[in-house]
Amino acid sequence: MQNSFARLAALETDSAQSLESWIHALPKAELHLHLEGSIQPETLRELSRAKGRLEQETEVWIRQQEERNFRYGSLSEFLNAFKLVSLLLESPSDYALATERLLQALASQNVGYAEITLSAGVILWKKQSLPETFEAICEVARHFESTAPLKVRWIFDAVRQFGTDHAREVLGWARMFRDQGVVAFGIGGDEERGPAELFVDVYQEARGYGLHCTAHAGEGHNPAGMRQAIRLLKPERIGHGIAAARDPEMIRLLRDNEIPLEVCLTSNLCTGLFDDVQNHPLKQLWDAGVRVTLNTDDPAMFATNLEGELALAARAFGFGPTEIIKLCQNAIEASFMPEDEKQEFRTKLRQAADRSVPG
Ligand code: ADE
Ligand code: ZN
Repeated sequence: MQNSFARLAALETDSAQSLESWIHALPKAELHLHLEGSIQPETLRELSRAKGRLEQETEVWIRQQEERNFRYGSLSEFLNAFKLVSLLLESPSDYALATERLLQALASQNVGYAEITLSAGVILWKKQSLPETFEAICEVARHFESTAPLKVRWIFDAVRQFGTDHAREVLGWARMFRDQGVVAFGIGGDEERGPAELFVDVYQEARGYGLHCTAHAGEGHNPAGMRQAIRLLKPERIGHGIAAARDPEMIRLLRDNEIPLEVCLTSNLCTGLFDDVQNHPLKQLWDAGVRVTLNTDDPAMFATNLEGELALAARAFGFGPTEIIKLCQNAIEASFMPEDEKQEFRTKLRQAADRSVPG
């Protein structure tokens, strides 16, 4: 008898609409998305309005993004925009609002599990209270989790270009909040200005505290920094990692050691790395046997969501139901869920896949 996934492989998706509703019905996990980058323009307007200032600047900036179709000239231009958005978050209640809206958006897409990155380093840089901010975030998450089938875990991110002491401070807080859902420590920001060698000891300490480790690396075209990040920091997953496509040895390393990549298609297009999705190396990495997951990175700043990313992979690379389910399975396997939660999620995915087989 054919198993459910094999039967799904035979599923004909006869229109974009049916593929999209089929994707919607799957229980999904997302591993790489930033809370700050998930704030929709309407919420940015609300945040600026509530303060009675910055309203005009925020409006002009939002219009500009919309006119440019959320394209940023470069990754560093995007990182600057990310900073501007982060500056609109001035209090724990602002972060709580952002959290509430993100969790609603995830639940509405049938995302059942999310590891959300909090730029803890940016909160420290703004001289805001990280414990008060994270407590406000957790209160929203706890309430949400008690009413919706969504589990949330947190990754505390340090900013590469702020250096070692800063990263160690972020790590200290991540350790402190391990029992409130912080599962991992990571680094983001500018790879050139914050090379991996600065963080060797910090990553070692993080592992010693029982935290998982991720790292944004290989987000540009140069594989050298990514090679260093893997060799020196030994992260369990890589944020982006598309530079590996230019380095056959690194592709083998990722495949043989089952190091997952958190690929973010629309993000890479919007930050100007590729002018056409057809030039993105997702399919190349996939065909080479790398464990790829799909993610949104900063969904509101790139006008995307997880369903959209899966549909884009289908349209651009001919991914059908078999490949889409494999992407969803990869996210479960690459997640930092404990084994019993993974098992439960695998079962839910299989059941949903079965239910959606026609006839
Ligand atoms: N922080 C938020 N989005 C990021 C990205 N795409 N790269 C590095 N740091 C980030
Ligand atoms: Zn990211």
